[in-house]
Amino acid sequence: MAQTRKIAFIGAGNMPQSIIGGMVQGGYPADAIYASNPSQPSLDILKEKHGIHTSNDNIEVAKAADVIVLSVKPQIMADACAYLRENLPDLNQKLVVTIAAGIRIEKYHQYLGNDVSIIRVMPNTPSLVGEGFSGVVADNNASADDKNFVLEVFNYVGKTISITDEDDIDVVGAVSGSGPAYFFEFMASLQKAAEAHGLSSEDARAMVQQTALGAAAMAGKSELTLEELRKQVTSKGGSTAKGVEVYQEANIDQISERAVNAAVARNQEMAKLF
Ligand SMILES: NC(=O)c1ccc[n+]([C@@H]2O[C@H](COP(=O)([O-])OP(=O)(O)OC[C@H]3O[C@@H](n4cnc5c(N)ncnc54)[C@H](OP(=O)(O)O)[C@@H]3O)[C@@H](O)[C@H]2O)c1
Repeated sequence: MAQTRKIAFIGAGNMPQSIIGGMVQGGYPADAIYASNPSQPSLDILKEKHGIHTSNDNIEVAKAADVIVLSVKPQIMADACAYLRENLPDLNQKLVVTIAAGIRIEKYHQYLGNDVSIIRVMPNTPSLVGEGFSGVVADNNASADDKNFVLEVFNYVGKTISITDEDDIDVVGAVSGSGPAYFFEFMASLQKAAEAHGLSSEDARAMVQQTALGAAAMAGKSELTLEELRKQVTSKGGSTAKGVEVYQEANIDQISERAVNAAVARNQEMAKLF
């Protein structure tokens, strides 16, 4: 970790619990991490497991920190921001990071002030097991160091990409954000197909799960394109070729394109709600 800054998470639900766990495990000093939440149980877990500072008061932790991570549900973001703005006159001296889905940076400028530095992150659920993927986009107030810091934080729970055009966050949401659901859908269908041939549900699931993990691990280690990797395991005239042919006849590329387009459109619609 190149930079250590005092960082406060406002809202201590599932996602911040995982990020904080990843940070502490990765060597980030627990003493520089703060979290606030209305109810006590999640704070107790964080304190006992990771030894970070906790409070029921958002202002107390935000005052102590250089970086404030807004990790409340989108529906209550406006109120949470109003409370911070009223009580933190030096908010423009801090960096504000948000992980909430669907709220655009210009909204945070309305909520918090045009001079506040905002970085928006779109993480995904595999972050909960340290295998996440996050897209990170900054406003014009945030510095390159600010953005690097945020990329480093989210690298503790997976991989990250830096985005320059905020519109691309909707694509990140539609691919890596929604992606785990697409993969689960596909994996469940393969499991059902295996069961239809008489395999037990337990064996079918283990087979599908390990195959997905193995294919992802191979893709991660290889310089080849995904198409080349696919060809490598598809000998001409063999059984894999027969199976792949069925997916291609169903036009799997078009299906994925339609799925991503539909999710991008929905993300754009939802952004208008805030
Ligand atoms: N989970 C994901 O995979 C994922 C992925 C991408 C983005 N996100 C975003 O991450 C954010 C948090 O998601 P999550 O899954 O961690 O949600 P979550 O588990 O429901 O946590 C939300 C937390 O916010 C707390 N809270 C409620 N009102 C608050 C307030 N006024 N001030 C401070 N904390 C308050 C809640 O406490 P109480 O329980 O006491 O009410 C709860 O612990 C959301 O904006 C979501 O869009 C999540």
